[in-house]
Amino acid sequence: MRITKQSEIQIKDRADILEVVQDFLSLKKKGQNYWACCPFHNEKSPSFSVAPAKGIYKCFGCGAAGDSVKFVMDIEGLSYPEALKYLANKYSIEIEEDTSGNTDEYKAQQTLRESVLIMMQFAQRYYHKLLTEDEDGKALGMSYFKERGFSLPTIEKFGLGFSKDDWHDLEKNAVKEGFTEEILEKAGLIIKKEENGKTNQYDRFRGRVMFPVYDLAGKVIAFGARTLKKDDKRGQAEPKYLNSPESEVYKKSEVLYGIFQAKNEIRNQDNCYLTEGYTDVISLHQAGIANVVASSGTSLTEGQIKLVKRFTDNITVLYDGDNAGIKASLRGIDLILEQGMNVRAVVFPQGEDPDSYVRKVGNFAFKEFLQESAKDFITFKAELLLGEVKTEPIRKAGAIREITNSISKVPDAIKREVYTQHCAELFNIDVHILSVEIDKILINKGLQEQKQKKEDIRREEEKSKNAPPPPFYVDDVPLPTEEYFTDKEVYYTNNEEVETPARKDIKYLQTIAVHEKECVRLLLKYGNYLVEGEVKLWEYLLAEIDELQFHTPVYLQMLTMYKEAITQGIKVDDSHMIRYGSPEIVEKVINLTTEKYQISENWGIMHEIVIPHESDSDKLPETAYKYILKHKYKFVKNLLKNIETQLEEELGEEEENLLLSEYNRLSMLKQQIASESGLVIDSD
Ligand code: CTP
Ligand code: MN
Repeated sequence: MRITKQSEIQIKDRADILEVVQDFLSLKKKGQNYWACCPFHNEKSPSFSVAPAKGIYKCFGCGAAGDSVKFVMDIEGLSYPEALKYLANKYSIEIEEDTSGNTDEYKAQQTLRESVLIMMQFAQRYYHKLLTEDEDGKALGMSYFKERGFSLPTIEKFGLGFSKDDWHDLEKNAVKEGFTEEILEKAGLIIKKEENGKTNQYDRFRGRVMFPVYDLAGKVIAFGARTLKKDDKRGQAEPKYLNSPESEVYKKSEVLYGIFQAKNEIRNQDNCYLTEGYTDVISLHQAGIANVVASSGTSLTEGQIKLVKRFTDNITVLYDGDNAGIKASLRGIDLILEQGMNVRAVVFPQGEDPDSYVRKVGNFAFKEFLQESAKDFITFKAELLLGEVKTEPIRKAGAIREITNSISKVPDAIKREVYTQHCAELFNIDVHILSVEIDKILINKGLQEQKQKKEDIRREEEKSKNAPPPPFYVDDVPLPTEEYFTDKEVYYTNNEEVETPARKDIKYLQTIAVHEKECVRLLLKYGNYLVEGEVKLWEYLLAEIDELQFHTPVYLQMLTMYKEAITQGIKVDDSHMIRYGSPEIVEKVINLTTEKYQISENWGIMHEIVIPHESDSDKLPETAYKYILKHKYKFVKNLLKNIETQLEEELGEEEENLLLSEYNRLSMLKQQIASESGLVIDSD
């Protein structure tokens, strides 16, 4: 689907950056802006800021920046149109489609991701409808949920459903609605098998109650499906739970069951309960404990921990009352500690899981139980290990090694100290012995990291020796890509037929990119300053810039946008670019205009940049203008030098004449700039 430009702007204008970001992060107000830990890189103290007045966000740690659309794109991994649709949906804006193509094309245009999401949404609604309206659904599915004590509002909240015990029920109904077999398979809803040259296909989920898995934004991305048969009636081939396979929209290791329904409460309570099962999450919600998610029976991944960390630093792990599971999960918990999170643990009585226990003792007693039995994780682990030591004293050394390992994972030194003391007491050994052990581990880790770093650097150097030069970065400016370098139209590639440019050319292009960045920044920031009477600075600047050929695609785009707006009589500044620009432009513009602008002294010297003194606002227009002239001068000089080298070659007469006349034109231009600018310009 193509969204009209008008619709696009309407969505961008309506979206409130604060509201959009708050669906994902917990923001704290400080001064004009709001702050949080950046979701786009790993950090312990907040450097991600949201400026509601400007409608933008920016991370001072990793440089991520943008408006509402960019944020949704990056946090949800969506394409630009998908992000617009997400926002349109959030704000109930009707999207105007660009219907210039026919409908077949329109379907083909939809990305696979989108199609799978639509497929999953259909399936969820279909399964839910079966649960509430179909005879089997009511008799088998609904009565099962009722028996488990799930209320109707709970069933609605989690979108629960039922699949008929039929090999083709979903398939038939989806096809009737216009979904293809291909999408059904890509979504993991049907299984296709080749047998004797014939393809056989059938519904994956049959005769089960359905638990849809939602992503952060509330879209269905997978299903868990529980059998209705009792353990003893199930054959080996029929597991209790069947889950969706990984797909375009479902990456198991990045998902936690219940995160969508829980995220606000996790933020509010500043704690997340982590359980094992679907039914634990649902039962606790119904008992009024909504800050709960499930790892769905697998060990925790880093991706899942980061998901929780967007909303809180505190995790309480709820363990079923059987010791086997606990031992197995301990390692996963060390991962959580490494992320700097505070971990606590609760163990339920033998044979109980959170779901069964809350139904047994009731909401009030359950909450009290959580309060009373939650232990910080290190103490919990130490006690667990100690229990084993009591029966087998020989294991004491091993237990101490394990606990010191865990303590060493805690990034905060003070917390480490507290844990160390507490564990020394528990194990009844000298605290200094423990401290020394932990220090050893930390020193070792430090040494290893250092070694790794050295190795990385060495490998980098090795690579750069032989390989073509990597793409360079100037500040945050990715320089022209390799394709760009090999483009025959580009000035200043070597005369030799080489695929990649020589180093000096790259240095030149780098320099050019820095200059171009500076030109654009000056235009955006000071373009509307008055120079003489009614004349604005941009008029001066653009006239000069016109002669320059911008090389770096993103700055060329920005310049083009700027000029287009000017010809339409629009006053252009950063907010104009943010409103109308592509996500890439939006990010660049924010980085150009929000940073305390500084080019490091080195860059300044290397690229002969004279930065206008911005505090000296009277002189600004003049300095900006001179700056651009100087840039232009440098540019022209390089063109001349290039022609000189070309002229040294054997050339045809016509070619030589062309080059000579271009050379003359440029020489005159160079003179002109020199006299116009009144600058003392270098002589080399
Ligand atoms: N699980 C799974 N596949 C299985 C068994 C379990 O994916 N064959 C996952 C499910 O997410 C399940 C969780 O592991 O919710 C915990 O398993 P279990 O404790 O056996 O299930 P419960 O959630 O307690 O389900 P119920 O109460 O319905 O037995
Ligand atoms: Mn259970």
